[in-house]
Amino acid sequence: MGKEFVIACKRLGQYVVACDKYDNAPAMQVADERRVFSMLDGDALMQVVNEVKPDVIVPEIEAIRTEKLYECERNGIRVVPSAKAVNYTMNRKAIRELAHTELGLKTANYRYAKTFDEFRQAADEIGYPFIVKPLMSSSGHGQSKVDTPDQLLTAWNCAAEGARGDIAEVIVEQFIPFDYEITLLTVTQKDAPTLFCAPIGHVQKGGDYRESFQPRAMKPEHLQAAQEMAAKVTAALTGQGIWGVEFFVSEKEGVIFSELSPRPHDTGMVTLAGTQNLNEFELHARAVLHLPIPEITQERQGASAVILSGVETHDPQYTGMADVTAAQRTYLRIFGKPEAHVGRRMGVVVCWDTLDTDQTQLRDKCKSLAAKVSVK
Ligand SMILES: Nc1ncnc2c1ncn2[C@@H]1O[C@H](COP(=O)(O)OP(=O)(O)O)[C@@H](O)[C@H]1O
Ligand SMILES: [Mg+2]
Repeated sequence: MGKEFVIACKRLGQYVVACDKYDNAPAMQVADERRVFSMLDGDALMQVVNEVKPDVIVPEIEAIRTEKLYECERNGIRVVPSAKAVNYTMNRKAIRELAHTELGLKTANYRYAKTFDEFRQAADEIGYPFIVKPLMSSSGHGQSKVDTPDQLLTAWNCAAEGARGDIAEVIVEQFIPFDYEITLLTVTQKDAPTLFCAPIGHVQKGGDYRESFQPRAMKPEHLQAAQEMAAKVTAALTGQGIWGVEFFVSEKEGVIFSELSPRPHDTGMVTLAGTQNLNEFELHARAVLHLPIPEITQERQGASAVILSGVETHDPQYTGMADVTAAQRTYLRIFGKPEAHVGRRMGVVVCWDTLDTDQTQLRDKCKSLAAKVSVK
């Protein structure tokens, strides 16, 4: 996703320095310069900032010593969308307290726990089944669904292993038996109205996204509720850029806020199929650069499906690429990650068709094409 954002910036003539903890990260392959260091190391981060002297810092991942970004902002460097947004969203507790307690958005019932005893107590209060997640984690790391008390210990250990950063605390969330879930890509602009993309439906496995599609049909009142919540939470977090605001939708319970990312969203890669006049990376680039976005239009239906590695290798090779590119109305994106790990996302297939096309068929086509690519 960093690579696609860099491409969008390069198309607008920007000079980009890509940073990551490993060399030859996809974004570095298309950027002007690269810096390799741990962004969790505050001193190393500030050293690079002082050296590069960027006009804008665009965090693309959560594993950053984000407190330091307040300091950058105080020194006149713009942080996207804002240091506040980046700090709040990297900690599930901060964002949940803002969304639920301060702004009154509807969420799943939840508790926090720092020890196994607190965890057991939280489980009793929330009831089974529930979902447990480390406060600092992403892509399903450390997350599990707990159906019965005998699974408590395994889930607790899994959360401890999957946590990133230095907070050993978990959130225990009531399991929502939603009918479907969506990402509402929301664009906040400088001195211009907040814009919304058509809802993106997605399917997750083990807390990690497998496929997405756009537009996800929704009842108008549900869409409106989601847009109102997205506008509220992004306004409170302040700044300009694209946000992936996640909701659960239940015909019975309505729309429930889940979480949000202050950056392009993985499920939003479906926009690479040309579903909109501007894809999510182009929208982000414009919002970040304070360039106007006159409107967001839905041009096509789209589907995306991920290509996961089944192997560990330092020299990933891909088979089945020709099967994908032989298909009509289909694009293949291989990220170019220098190493593959079991379960690591290495690419994505996106398919598109006309707005009146059968969505189930489009999704099935996309999934079966993605399944043809394997990493050797
Ligand atoms: N309370 C919940 N009830 C039901 N499903 C959930 C709940 N919380 C998370 N999930 C499922 O797990 C996925 C990942 O959870 P999320 O909170 O978005 O974590 P991440 O930050 O890793 O994306 C969600 O998209 C959803 O499919
Ligand atoms: Mg999520």
